[in-house]
Amino acid sequence: MATSAHNPPEASAPAELDAAALRRAFGAYPTGVVAISALRGSEPVGFAASSFVSISLQPPMAAVSVARTSTTWPRLAGASELGLSVLSRGQGELCRRLASREGNRFDGVAWKRTPEGAVLIEDAALWLTARVSATYDGGDHEIVLMELLTAELFPGVEPLVFHTSQFRELIPHG
Ligand SMILES: Cc1cc2nc3c(=O)[nH]c(=O)nc-3n(C[C@H](O)[C@H](O)[C@H](O)COP(=O)(O)O)c2cc1C
Repeated sequence: MATSAHNPPEASAPAELDAAALRRAFGAYPTGVVAISALRGSEPVGFAASSFVSISLQPPMAAVSVARTSTTWPRLAGASELGLSVLSRGQGELCRRLASREGNRFDGVAWKRTPEGAVLIEDAALWLTARVSATYDGGDHEIVLMELLTAELFPGVEPLVFHTSQFRELIPHG
């Protein structure tokens, strides 16, 4: 039989769907990363999420799945408006910071606020503002459905790509 990426010479048995194997499996699906942020008092609060997905055009909706263990989400959930910043090619380090439980996530980060208190990160590839419209059970995550309010695109800015636990860049096909 010919050797291929799907049939390597030392192919391993299909992985059991335990959490670690499933995390690796999900990691084979490339995504962007969105910073979800808002002001709490005068301080920006936010976290990085790769589970962002577009849902509906009319009405405009998107969703994200949030770990039930998240300590940041409960602080954001009550915000009247959330900022969603699609991180750009050079923002891998910033992404790690926005996922870290150490230090101030926004130290040295350039951001702006909307009048309703959404926080948007400068140099991102796309800005969206949203408000939470419903939440659904998603196992050890909560599926958060959001109504989208505004979108501002920066077409010249390349997005950050997250794949197999690594940050990558897009290259044109062909
Ligand atoms: C690339 C990347 C993608 C992530 N995607 C998600 C996600 O979709 N949902 C989520 O709940 N956490 C996600 N996280 C983890 C959060 O950013 C953060 O680490 C987690 O919320 C723990 O911090 P917290 O207790 O402050 O919420 C991701 C982290 C990284 C680095």
